[in-house]
Amino acid sequence: MLYLQLWFIVFFGLVEKSMSMHQDQFCQLKAIQECLYPSLGLLEAIESGNEPLSMKECDLLQTSIGCFSVPRCPGNLLKAFRYLVLTVGTTLKKSQYACPNLDVETLGNFLDKGYSVKCEDNKSVKDICDRSCKCKNGKLDSCYRVRKEFTKMSLEERTRFIKAFKMVSSDPRYIREHERIGKVHTVIPAMETFFPWHRWYTLELENLLRQVDCRITIPYWDWSKDAEHWTRGSEIEDTWNEGPHGLGGNGVFPLGCVMNGPFKYGEYSLPQTNGDCLKRNFNYSCKLPNAEKKENILHEANYTVFRNTIVKHHHGPFHKCVGGTLAFYVTAPYSPEFWLLHSYLDKLWVKWKRRNEGSHSDLRDSTKIMVMTGHHPWEYHDEDHLPGGVKISYEE
Ligand SMILES: *[C@@H]1O[C@H](CO)[C@@H](O)[C@H](O)[C@H]1NC(C)=O
Ligand SMILES: *[C@@H]1O[C@H](CO)[C@@H](O)[C@H](O)[C@H]1NC(C)=O
Ligand SMILES: *[C@@H]1O[C@H](CO)[C@@H](O)[C@H](O)[C@H]1NC(C)=O
Repeated sequence: MLYLQLWFIVFFGLVEKSMSMHQDQFCQLKAIQECLYPSLGLLEAIESGNEPLSMKECDLLQTSIGCFSVPRCPGNLLKAFRYLVLTVGTTLKKSQYACPNLDVETLGNFLDKGYSVKCEDNKSVKDICDRSCKCKNGKLDSCYRVRKEFTKMSLEERTRFIKAFKMVSSDPRYIREHERIGKVHTVIPAMETFFPWHRWYTLELENLLRQVDCRITIPYWDWSKDAEHWTRGSEIEDTWNEGPHGLGGNGVFPLGCVMNGPFKYGEYSLPQTNGDCLKRNFNYSCKLPNAEKKENILHEANYTVFRNTIVKHHHGPFHKCVGGTLAFYVTAPYSPEFWLLHSYLDKLWVKWKRRNEGSHSDLRDSTKIMVMTGHHPWEYHDEDHLPGGVKISYEE
């Protein structure tokens, strides 16, 4: 037990110093720190011989076990700690002192299921974080985060995204990072860098959400499929549905606060404000670009024309027509729809590049750093070759 405590203390130190580490390593350290923290009191109690353990101490261990039972990031370090905590839990459950009601099965199942990925060469497999990987020489290789269309995702996946989004907006463990991300948008990036800048930006939030649950990616919403009904929330799959899997509907007079769904007044407030509600102010006369308009712009061979059209006639209208929090650039990132929008635009960029192979080199040559990011545009040019070894793809 003493060893466990020592490791724990060492990890606190490491996490502080690890900002420059590879992302998966950093994520593992954070997960270990966060998940072990609740059990600190229990470990101290065992160490100092305060037996039997109290219900409260057992509950804290349960919290740790629960925390370790959610997929976070791949890696053996985290895996080792999971086994360690499982062993502690199983031992305490059986021992005479201790926590007879402990649920260790979830973690046990998770470890069984999460790591028994059979890898047959040239087959496509999912890793524990739901990344889509190729199998090469018996090992997972070339793993992609898959972003999905919001209205086609399972309700469970949608709820997972929404819960994590709310968690990073309110939980003290994540809120500082979330506010940092929010504040970035007080500076508007140069038009030339619109696509790579926003790709960087969606990854900032995605990385944070994946600390909560590494299966999460930022969904996209292709409203062009059914552009006429973009305000609809009545169908279960609708983006604006008021169920736990939806973003809720339009704001309500007089303040424009959203009053239904998971982001309603009283359940969600914007970080960096005095508890302001999420607002929407649908303009029902708005016509968002439909599927035909989308196809047309994807056929435009000139990158500048493509980009400007997307920014002015697809991106701009969505911000304005939804209105409220999304209409003001300083608050926009605190609305969940902002991220569904930018994931969608990013997907359009991917599609456009496929169709117009090699038709723009301006981004690759730029030596300028993108504002607020510390990165060059070209670093975010190829979705399958992003900093930190990240690869993204979009499911149709
Ligand atoms: C996998 O693909 C490679 C290259 O296409 C091929 O050489 C190899 O035989 C394949 N392996 C299996 C097990 O099918
Ligand atoms: C709503 O959209 C219509 C059509 O685009 C536009 O003419 C009108 O000015 C918009 N109304 C507001 C209040 O922005
Ligand atoms: C692309 O369009 C822009 C803006 O209309 C124009 O200035 C530029 O010359 C065009 N590029 C090519 C290669 O046609």
